[in-house]
Amino acid sequence: MATATVEESSKPRLIFGRWRFWMFMVGLVTILTGLLFGYDQGVISGALQFIAAAFHLSTTLQEVVTSWVTLGALIGALIAGGLADRLGRKPTMMIGGALFAVGALGESLAPGTWILVISRFVIGFGVGVASVAGPLYAAEMAPSSDRGRYVSSYQLAVTIGILLADIADAVLSPGGHWRVMLGLSIVPGVLLLVIALGMPDTPRWYLAAGRRADAKATLAKVLGGPNLDGRLDAMQADLAQTSGVKMRDVFAPAMRRALWVGIGLAVFQQVTGINAVIYYSDKIFKLAGFTTPHGQTIATIIAVGVVNCLATLIAIAYIDRFGRKPLLYAGLTGMTVGLLGIAVAFAFLDRHPSTTGGVSITGVVTLVFMIVYIASFAFSLGPVTWTMISEIFPNRIRGKAMAVATAFNWGAAFVVSASFLSIMNAIGEATTFFIFAALCVICFFWVRAKVPETRGKSLEQIQASWGELDKANKEPKQPAAID
Ligand code: BGC
Repeated sequence: MATATVEESSKPRLIFGRWRFWMFMVGLVTILTGLLFGYDQGVISGALQFIAAAFHLSTTLQEVVTSWVTLGALIGALIAGGLADRLGRKPTMMIGGALFAVGALGESLAPGTWILVISRFVIGFGVGVASVAGPLYAAEMAPSSDRGRYVSSYQLAVTIGILLADIADAVLSPGGHWRVMLGLSIVPGVLLLVIALGMPDTPRWYLAAGRRADAKATLAKVLGGPNLDGRLDAMQADLAQTSGVKMRDVFAPAMRRALWVGIGLAVFQQVTGINAVIYYSDKIFKLAGFTTPHGQTIATIIAVGVVNCLATLIAIAYIDRFGRKPLLYAGLTGMTVGLLGIAVAFAFLDRHPSTTGGVSITGVVTLVFMIVYIASFAFSLGPVTWTMISEIFPNRIRGKAMAVATAFNWGAAFVVSASFLSIMNAIGEATTFFIFAALCVICFFWVRAKVPETRGKSLEQIQASWGELDKANKEPKQPAAID
């Protein structure tokens, strides 16, 4: 599982020619793998209250129904790398799409809680498999000059999926059609299965499987350009360098700093509350005084769906201009302000609807600060985490190290989503949001102390800088000095 890419053709790009067509299809497949993930992330917030009422779910069971997707995704992501190496990137994506569609069918028809929970787990498994195979496929298919854009388009697709799910929730919640909300997930699953079926595997995988003729045919078909054999030879040399890498190589002392940064970003991204807010946003708005399910889903569309999507576009535009750390500083500050605002609203403001039947003061203030929080996450810790995880590891171990960091991300998402409601019941909403805010502050100082700036650095420069940092071990306060 590595990410060497097909070199860019020297030919001009064709707008309507086959070059463009195939790259468009690669983009489409990547976007679909992100959409699956996002749709599922978003849909549960609107469906949960109907499911809870239909199946008389306790708080703990509501947490199980919500969080087992992340548990499935954790396991799916861990085995996806091996599957992608053994079966190919394309069949692995198809398996992800098929599992997702089967799980979606199961949850929309579920007669009781346990079929629902198992279906959620199957969906998660599909999400986990697709979340590794999709970006891997894109990274190996895209010309290196466009690789960053393809990686960011995955994150953007996640947010579009969340937005589409929020809209489906809003349209379907007045009638209480939670089975349709969940069943609609079948569509992106089947689309991924069908579209991936018509795509070739990556040249790199064909080469690893000893199928040079297929590798050459794919390279010619998808990218075209001169010197196909020379490019394949370069790819083969790169493959030789990365083959035989073991999981324990990821944990070698020389990799430790990079690994801690990758795992730290992956875990902080979750323990600062993003999925608690995304999964349970309707519930939060209900507690804050949005009395009708429709009012709650509209607040969710605005505060979570639209804002998350738009702010991700800001990150894509500025991540290479401003750098990763300035975005993280600004974003973590905004997230802290947003979370403190929500905590204060819950602690001190009136939660009862106004006398004219509208939303409570707490509701309005919560909505405003939720927007601040989500926007700040979406231009910082959301995309920057995935960008940095894909650039801080050396090529040789990158695939495996990314899988470890991704598994930590899902693991942390599971812990947070499986305990958020219980924690809120036990210590109250205000204290819970205050703890998330405190974790943002800790993350801010950790980023300052431990995370290097990688903007404008080649992957080799980033590698060299880790070695220098190891040598200058005595100056832990300045590890960001890659420049
Ligand atoms: C995170 C997800 C989160 C999403 C929200 C991603 O970067 O990994 O857990 O749900 O952003 O947009």
